[in-house]
Amino acid sequence: MSAISVRNVWVEYGDQIVLENVDLDIASGAFVSVVGPSGCGKSTFLRMVLGQERPSRGRFLIDGKPLPGEPGPDRGVVFQRYSVFPHLSVVGNVLAGYEFAESPFLGKLFGARRRAAAERASALVDAVGLGPHAEKYPSALSGGQQQRLAIAQALAREPKVLLLDEPFGALDPGTRAQMHALIRPLWKERGMTVIMVTHDLKEAFGLGTRLLAFDKPRIDPQAPHRYGARIIYDLDLTRDGPVPVLGFSKPIESSPTAEETQRSMTHA
Ligand SMILES: Nc1ncnc2c1ncn2[C@@H]1O[C@H](COP(=O)(O)OP(=O)(O)OP(=O)(O)O)[C@@H](O)[C@H]1O
Ligand SMILES: [Mg+2]
Repeated sequence: MSAISVRNVWVEYGDQIVLENVDLDIASGAFVSVVGPSGCGKSTFLRMVLGQERPSRGRFLIDGKPLPGEPGPDRGVVFQRYSVFPHLSVVGNVLAGYEFAESPFLGKLFGARRRAAAERASALVDAVGLGPHAEKYPSALSGGQQQRLAIAQALAREPKVLLLDEPFGALDPGTRAQMHALIRPLWKERGMTVIMVTHDLKEAFGLGTRLLAFDKPRIDPQAPHRYGARIIYDLDLTRDGPVPVLGFSKPIESSPTAEETQRSMTHA
């Protein structure tokens, strides 16, 4: 179980309002795609779910309980920029993920448990296509390879909630498709709740069970900082036919199909 509730959340930095009264419930096991223009607060939203920062007002709850003060092993994250241990090899980085998952205090495993974790680490390194580079250090990897390593390391921690901030943005289309094929079954098998920020609408619609679009519904040209972003579209992607809009803050005349919505958002 790892349902997330967001209750009337406001995020302000100085006089800049970034998020304005965001209120939503994310079911356990959902795969939520988050889209929106650059700078509208998507990464900020993820940092709040991770527990790295607190909202100025409002609350985040996991399974009805307030978020712990610190990011915990129950929430894994892959940031927009690579975040791996530079002093560990590829396989060492992934093994560290398993060690932290199984032994959160020591971060070390011994004997048979370490051997089992090392086998799983190797299998995951192969699955993300880094088998031939298993012994290299991150500085000897390309950007896309480092990002695949960051994804493998986050998955090895077996988080209940996986937060992905444009995780595939730096990858070429072929590798990106491979990562999509890897992440979907893992999400299903593990019953993780995934929140993925992406600028790629095809990816958002293709992977998600729900799509949230953040944007500022109001803009004051004299004071652009005055209003924050809200969720302007909230789409259930699990059903065929007309897109069941769970919530929206812009009036729409008729219920568009998934394709029409995707097209209008692409050309917006
Ligand atoms: N620690 C901070 N202090 C001050 N302002 C911040 C801080 N973190 C974020 N901001 C501001 O909040 C706004 C939202 O930033 P955020 O990184 O969440 O955007 P984003 O939607 O992820 O954009 P992108 O798609 O470009 O990654 C930006 O205007 C940014 O300058
Ligand atoms: Mg961002």
